[in-house]
Amino acid sequence: MDALTGFASVGAAYSAHSLSARGRLRHDLVARRLLAELPARPARVLDVGCGDGEMTLRLAAAGHHVTGVDPSAEMLRAAARRLSARPDLAPRIRLLEAGIDGRPFERERFDAVCCHGVLMHLDAADAIGRVAGLVARGGVLSILTENRAAIGFREALRGEYRAARGLIEQGAAASRGNLGLQTRGDTAEALDELAAGHGLSPLPWQGVRIFHDHHVDWTPDPEEYAQALQTEWAASTRDPYRQLGRLVHTVARHGAERRRTP
Ligand SMILES: C[S@@+](CC[C@H](N)C(=O)[O-])C[C@H]1O[C@@H](n2cnc3c(N)ncnc32)[C@H](O)[C@@H]1O
Repeated sequence: MDALTGFASVGAAYSAHSLSARGRLRHDLVARRLLAELPARPARVLDVGCGDGEMTLRLAAAGHHVTGVDPSAEMLRAAARRLSARPDLAPRIRLLEAGIDGRPFERERFDAVCCHGVLMHLDAADAIGRVAGLVARGGVLSILTENRAAIGFREALRGEYRAARGLIEQGAAASRGNLGLQTRGDTAEALDELAAGHGLSPLPWQGVRIFHDHHVDWTPDPEEYAQALQTEWAASTRDPYRQLGRLVHTVARHGAERRRTP
């Protein structure tokens, strides 16, 4: 099953996951970092594999101009439905049906190119090669994908010891993701190296969903959620915690020196 076929069948499940506390945690962490890297002025953002449009809508709500692209008509329809509930954002959002290899935006350059939750379904070197050149000078490439370094951690915390041991002992790249699809992880270091190979300067990376990844039916009250979010944020930049995130968020800038902290 390729990524696209897989998503056609799990779109609704993805949207439900995305809106759960566990799903929201990752969007909150990633948006916080991304907004800190974007200029205060309205920026041009490309959201590759935008899915049901969570980050597209968030960034547009922050004043940026966002092009969301996804090859799945079903996911795009879900994004369009959400957008119809926010007509104030419509002037700043463009939704296009295209994959990472489609080029409706070939001549454009963006202050941020996001590729979140997509690389785990694709070849990382190929995917980064396709998007790195779309970053404008001074802009950032933001990648969120599964963390290969922590393979088996989720399974072990859930008590699925046999599966965990197999993954850990093999140092496997692939495991089963939230939606039951087979997904593939990358290390932050490998992703940074790929970005650097395209002339981008890696900034500090973050681990995402370190302590809450296995909290499948988590329904925190607002105060608990706020505390959890702050704790995840504090750990996200620090070793050894960040190495155990289910996801890694790497950010690389076109035309910048490495920086120490986000
Ligand atoms: C897990 S969802 C992530 C959605 C969104 N970026 C997010 O972070 O919430 C993965 C998305 O990647 C899309 N996708 C699958 N193959 C793709 C490709 N070749 N190029 C771009 N997007 C792709 C799927 O249609 C799906 O909407």
